[in-house]
Amino acid sequence: MLELVIRAAREAGAILQEYAARGFQVEHKGRINLVTEADLASERHIKQLIASHYPNHRILAEESGASSHASDEYCWIIDPLDGTTNFSHGFPCYAVSIGVEYKGGMVAGAIYDPSRDEMFAAERGGGATCNDRRIQVSDVGQLEKALVVSGFPYDVRERMDEYLPAWREFLNRAQGVRRFGAAAIDMAYVAMGRLEGFWEHGLNAWDTAAGWIIVEEAGGRVTQLDGSPFDNHTPSLLCTNGKVHDEMLAVLRDIKRDNPSR
Ligand code: IPD
Ligand code: CA
Ligand code: CA
Repeated sequence: MLELVIRAAREAGAILQEYAARGFQVEHKGRINLVTEADLASERHIKQLIASHYPNHRILAEESGASSHASDEYCWIIDPLDGTTNFSHGFPCYAVSIGVEYKGGMVAGAIYDPSRDEMFAAERGGGATCNDRRIQVSDVGQLEKALVVSGFPYDVRERMDEYLPAWREFLNRAQGVRRFGAAAIDMAYVAMGRLEGFWEHGLNAWDTAAGWIIVEEAGGRVTQLDGSPFDNHTPSLLCTNGKVHDEMLAVLRDIKRDNPSR
């Protein structure tokens, strides 16, 4: 199954690059939430590939939603283009993200960054890889020495007061804070040891499904922002190298305590 996940992510990544080279139509799903022809073509291709190998598996894909026909215990969770805003500006930080869920837990996942030709992948119990080489989270054990990342959900204009306090605290306490605009890449970079931690509100299953298993298989930790167990239906996420997790949770708890409404 992992082979097919990787193949689907790679082929979809090639489709994105074709559109990036030749141009594409952009539409608005919301005021700042875009969808391009490339998102749709990538998703179509991935879905066809899955259906031709596993016709009974369920599919949850960002642009077309959940398949209604099948009742299998396997569900493929697809973000055909994570980082659409970047993609539409020609900013080369976007990825295809595909995870396979079985009875609520992840069994395989791949995140493919076609701009750097980096394929992050993992299978439950088999470790995580980048371009077939084993990857591990970093050893950094203090927030002060950590490079952390976050993102903003599309409701940022309505809920900015809720999102900014964490930025303020992490800017004060971490070595650096980044915002790349592609949650799947943020998670892959935590798994790879390029970043120590990633927090975000308002994510969807397709943003995080593949990253969840890749980070865990690379030795990292994934929870909700309050420390409770993460699953594909919880929109808040903290994923780290494990070593700065408790410190980041403590920062987030202090913010919550000081601003109970947020
Ligand atoms: C978005 C990106 C972004 C994150 C948003 C996501 P999309 O996904 O991952 O980094 O901050 O919350 O919705 O719309 O580009 O697939
Ligand atoms: Ca996404
Ligand atoms: Ca997307």
